[in-house]
Amino acid sequence: MTISFRSADLTALTTDLIAVPMFQDEKLFTAASAALKKDFGTAVAAALASKDFSGKEGETLMIYTGGVKASRLFLVGLGETKKFTLEKLRRSTATAAKKAKALKNKHLSISMPEVAEVLPEPIADVAAAMSEAALLSLYKYDKYLTVAKNGNTLSAIQFVSRSKFGAEITAGLKRGEAIAEATIHARDLSNAPGSEIYPETLANDAKKQGKRYGYSVTVFDRKRIASLRMGGVIGVSKGSEKDPRFIILEYGAQYKKHGTVALVGKGVTFDTGGISIKPSANMAEMKMDMAGAAAVIGTFNAVASLKLKQHLIGLIPSVENMPSGSAVKPGDIIRHYNGKTSEVDNTDAEGRLILADALSYAGRYKPELVIDLATLTGACVVALGHYTSGMMGNDQETMDALLRAGDRSYDRVWQLPMYDEYEKLIKSDVADVKNVGGRWAGAITAGWFLKKFIGDYKWVHLDIAGTAIQEENQDYIPRGGSGAGVRLLVEFLRNK
Ligand code: BES
Ligand code: MN
Ligand code: ZN
Repeated sequence: MTISFRSADLTALTTDLIAVPMFQDEKLFTAASAALKKDFGTAVAAALASKDFSGKEGETLMIYTGGVKASRLFLVGLGETKKFTLEKLRRSTATAAKKAKALKNKHLSISMPEVAEVLPEPIADVAAAMSEAALLSLYKYDKYLTVAKNGNTLSAIQFVSRSKFGAEITAGLKRGEAIAEATIHARDLSNAPGSEIYPETLANDAKKQGKRYGYSVTVFDRKRIASLRMGGVIGVSKGSEKDPRFIILEYGAQYKKHGTVALVGKGVTFDTGGISIKPSANMAEMKMDMAGAAAVIGTFNAVASLKLKQHLIGLIPSVENMPSGSAVKPGDIIRHYNGKTSEVDNTDAEGRLILADALSYAGRYKPELVIDLATLTGACVVALGHYTSGMMGNDQETMDALLRAGDRSYDRVWQLPMYDEYEKLIKSDVADVKNVGGRWAGAITAGWFLKKFIGDYKWVHLDIAGTAIQEENQDYIPRGGSGAGVRLLVEFLRNK
């Protein structure tokens, strides 16, 4: 797909469809309507006279111009300017892109909102939201489909404006494209079956991405992991025929002096639950239990392609959680990288066991901040559903910044409390900590478990169990892997 910017009048465009987002404010709507009538003539005048479309949010109107150059005008309502948000623009852009796809169009032109310069958001952000949403909305995981392929015939999307801020718009469109591409890679990794993505192949993908985007990737094999005494990674992987990997990504070493941020991603390539085996209903979803790892790789791709000035370390402990004669058992005690022990009361609480090693290993880099992303608990999905990731941590300022980045990118987070009272729920009689905390507050007790393994750095834990795995199709997020975390982290790091 090529994304481009063109400074032109709509009448100059030769294209299959011109999407025109319009505001409902009376003055703006009247002016925009008059311009369209003047440019496209009687068919448009008749369509607008029908009053079938008034620019309300969610409204659309297809008009066949009868002209030769651009045969279709597709009006999309943006609602009132005073209620404008980037998310509304993402959704209406997605509506337009999906319409062109459904019509099997090749070329789509999208007019920037007529008052883009005066919206409460910088024009580059307006452009970024548009290219991002257009690309994300066209996504379908179709690698293994032999007949019902994606069916996307669109090969070019052109954004059109007469604004004098062409340079800012072009930069914004590029940014949105990089973020969409990174999110799509994370979606692909999540949606891939466990037969394709297991620790070794996940590591190979990370290496490939590093080469492509320009960051370094180091992979530890089972022997190396064992010699480092990462008991959690070794323990959880024991029941599987697939060996574990510990994947280390590094970007921007030249920016070390501004501080290091480490991103830790849960890379369970399939989670059966192990000996504490899961019920079979919906177990297939657990091929996405490496969505945290996918978000880390995706974020690296975007950060490298945007050339952000930030030293970044990525740490991905990767295992397959299987039951077998060699599997870790309830009651077993694990010794983690930092020497602390944990009692495995339930082998299905495996994510925290491997993250414990990665979080303590992160200390080696003396990071100022560590953010971990993990499809960690069903309890978090019960608490927040599929539209918000759970957030916990030890630094309020960072969490506030992440909350803002979430609202802007619409890859949203909500903080859960880590009050001291929850800590005792994971007390063990025989080890330093127990890996489950009983029935209540499961997302928080998981957070508390992780907290026992952090080093001397600011830390935020994001539980993406609900957001990374979607059940319903949305405007620009289809059912399945969503790539949650990428848009959030890129927005956060850009403003850091
Ligand atoms: N990977 C799961 C969590 C999960 C559940 C992710 C649903 C996505 C959707 C995790 O490893 C797990 O099994 N957690 C257990 C913890 C429990 C045993 C304390 C859970 O949530 O049931
Ligand atoms: Mn599990
Ligand atoms: Zn899991």
